[in-house]
Amino acid sequence: MDRAAGAEPLTLIHLIAAARPNFMKIAPLWHALAAERWCRVELVHTGQHYDPGMSDAFFRDLDLPRPDIHLGVGSGSHAEQTARVMIEYEKACTDRQPDCVVVVGDVNSTLACTLVAAKLHIPVAHLEAGLRSRDRTMPEEINRLVTDTIADLLWTPSPDADDNLRAEGIASGKIDFVGNIMIDSFELMRARIGASDILERLDLTPGTYGAVTLHRPSNVDEPHKLARLLTELETVAKRIPLVFTVHPRTRQRMEEFGLSVSADAAVRLIDPLGYLDFMKLVSNSGIVITDSGGIQEETTYLGIPCLTLRDNTERPITITAGTNRLVNAATLQVAMQEALTQRPSSHEPPALWDGHTAHRVVASLKTFLERTARVNA
Ligand code: UD1
Repeated sequence: MDRAAGAEPLTLIHLIAAARPNFMKIAPLWHALAAERWCRVELVHTGQHYDPGMSDAFFRDLDLPRPDIHLGVGSGSHAEQTARVMIEYEKACTDRQPDCVVVVGDVNSTLACTLVAAKLHIPVAHLEAGLRSRDRTMPEEINRLVTDTIADLLWTPSPDADDNLRAEGIASGKIDFVGNIMIDSFELMRARIGASDILERLDLTPGTYGAVTLHRPSNVDEPHKLARLLTELETVAKRIPLVFTVHPRTRQRMEEFGLSVSADAAVRLIDPLGYLDFMKLVSNSGIVITDSGGIQEETTYLGIPCLTLRDNTERPITITAGTNRLVNAATLQVAMQEALTQRPSSHEPPALWDGHTAHRVVASLKTFLERTARVNA
């Protein structure tokens, strides 16, 4: 902390990052906060994702510094992982005494750090608040519900999220519609994404291939479901070749169940890519098949057809205003044909998906902290 004798104490903000989908959300915010003179930001990595390809590559690609604090929690059951983050982060909070904690997204660490801070009476702000799938079998939905209930300031990416929060009884004064931070990352890195040589390395021609990601427990944790999805991908690949970046969870399950794709199918299995290479791959693809949350948004912004292998989405705006549709193993082939033949001629990104969300967040945070200090005075 910059609280040396005589020096004006700067407001200390903890920015929490944990897992791959968090890194592109905290990056624009870290850069925006680091440029402010009224605050100091400490980057806290809980260690939920720890493989170089799932973590270090993103820090490098997004120009993030080494974390100030690394909790090193690793994998485990949900209870184990959440509990370990809580135990370690409570120590870090006691030691560093942040004035405010900023959490993003919906992973176990988001929930764990929110609980710790709230119980220590440290204000918590949640970026990407208010999204709801209404599917409580998803661990992320539980994380979203609990985090939003106890956070003090809720930054939403779309008006549906504001509606969800108000319907749950959250005071309008806590809710601030700031837009989608993922678009800031894309715009911040646009030139470097363009310069990635991933298409040359994989020998791909723009528009002639599909990109695939799958990692949700509902798709990959049961052998018969995963086997069926892999067979369906082989069929899709007869129409358009596929590049499948395989998440560690999915890789583990495929090995455990003895599953793969047939050698003569045009489905290429590759390791997870860093942010720049992955966004280059997606931006130049003809179609995306995924069960990720963030990729539904990125494809909406880029105007690329996206087939989401889920029964529901917490991001309905990607369907109503975007290019996304929900599919399952039985509807994938028909949806793929339709998506490839009925591409929209033009499209507008949703409101405030404009690359300026980080600045709105910083302004909102400053106002909130000034108000809180006044109230406490
Ligand atoms: C987590 C998040 C999910 C997010 C996803 C993106 C929760 C509840 N889930 O799910 O919201 O969409 O990350 O990746 O927080 N593993 C590695 N290396 C790693 C990380 C994980 O090998 O760096 C392995 C773990 O040992 C585990 C499996 O992958 O067996 C799953 O990891 P875990 O972090 O538990 O959940 P995800 O499925 O990645």
